[in-house]
Amino acid sequence: MLLHMFLILHLQVLVMASSSSSEEDGSSERDDEHSKGSSHQHQWGYHDQDTWSSAFEHCSGKSQSPIDIDTHKVFYDPRLPPIKLEGYDLTGSPALTLINNGHTLQLSLPSSMRIMRGFDHVYVAAQLHFHWGTTEVPGSEHTIDNIHFPAEIHVVHYNSKYANLTEAASKADGLAVLGGFIGIGLHENDNYEKILSALTDISIEESDTEIPGFNVRHLLPNSLERFYRYNGSLTTPPCFQTVSWSLFNDSIRVSRRQLAALEDTLKTEHNKLLSKNFRAPQLLHGRKVLASFHTVSTMGKPREAPQPETQDNNVMKTSGGEWHILAITFGVLFAITFLVFSMYTYQQKKKYSKFKKDSKQNVIYKPAAIGKDIDQTSVTIT
Ligand SMILES: *[C@@H]1O[C@H](CO)[C@@H](O)[C@H](O)[C@H]1NC(C)=O
Ligand SMILES: *[C@@H]1O[C@H](CO)[C@@H](O)[C@H](O)[C@H]1NC(C)=O
Ligand SMILES: *[C@@H]1O[C@H](CO)[C@@H](O)[C@H](O)[C@H]1NC(C)=O
Ligand SMILES: [Zn+2]
Repeated sequence: MLLHMFLILHLQVLVMASSSSSEEDGSSERDDEHSKGSSHQHQWGYHDQDTWSSAFEHCSGKSQSPIDIDTHKVFYDPRLPPIKLEGYDLTGSPALTLINNGHTLQLSLPSSMRIMRGFDHVYVAAQLHFHWGTTEVPGSEHTIDNIHFPAEIHVVHYNSKYANLTEAASKADGLAVLGGFIGIGLHENDNYEKILSALTDISIEESDTEIPGFNVRHLLPNSLERFYRYNGSLTTPPCFQTVSWSLFNDSIRVSRRQLAALEDTLKTEHNKLLSKNFRAPQLLHGRKVLASFHTVSTMGKPREAPQPETQDNNVMKTSGGEWHILAITFGVLFAITFLVFSMYTYQQKKKYSKFKKDSKQNVIYKPAAIGKDIDQTSVTIT
């Protein structure tokens, strides 16, 4: 439904600058259907995503979404502010509209839901939606080290300095989307059931229903502290490159049965199953992916976000300096050891040659060999 809303929004932006006041719901979708006759370009599907850019120029831009998150290449950025949500704990009424728009399952959200901290502006929630695959094919849009999760949730927010989602969608700082990966767990997820239990009511394309409000925060992972951040786009036409993405490292779990319900219930055009509604990962084109936490790779060798005037760079210099000090210390220690050993050897040799003069016996210790061992050790240290 959210995805649907998202799509509808995009279409709205293109098709009609001034639409009715109850935007982003079934009515606008139907308007869009009407406009198809005159402007063929608004039809698109996941089967022909290679051709999106012929009708939607932004889709071939250099900051497209989704992407693969290579956890070995993300930059730890301790300055990323924590994400603070407000108003997510909705009560039973007013009800929320859940829609099957033919592209996704989308839930409309009230503007009382906001991201208060984490960005330069307050961002207002508009809708949430899902991407999924089939029982055989995992269908998250973003991938982690080239691995898809079974499904992905997107909560779409727009910058509060704009009047609405439609207006914000084409602005550089217009959108902030929170993304969560959905995996399979042993237990039923009661929070997701609040949406999934209504699926059978909207199996037909372009249908909607009302569900009681609930705490939407519970659709997101338990921990919002660890997230990736990058600049990207809408993952559906018109692919505007106006999204600040936040993808949570902690994932969400639903039962196998619940995931199957998402994958097997909704129908799209020609009564076909609505599934595999995910776009393939797009090229980074030099974009950086930041992380609010240390990944496995950043713990080994810090890859801090390259930014000017920073404590972080100082931290890196400090640790680099410490390493040098360590190396020098070892070097000096070795030199002293070697010196002492050499002197000792020299003295012993003198004693020995004396002794040799006295008795012609052959001898006991091998300073050369020992010296060689030490040399090898020193190579390793240096
Ligand atoms: C969004 O805001 C713009 C600018 O205020 C307005 O022209 C437009 O009608 C609004 N769209 C919707 C769908 O409310
Ligand atoms: C996203 O773009 C803005 C504006 O260019 C920039 O200030 C910010 O650092 C970028 N964020 C990331 C994560 O690259
Ligand atoms: C979360 O971070 C850990 C540590 O880097 C990584 O192994 C794991 O794949 C990440 N999962 C997601 C969903 O980002
Ligand atoms: Zn989406």
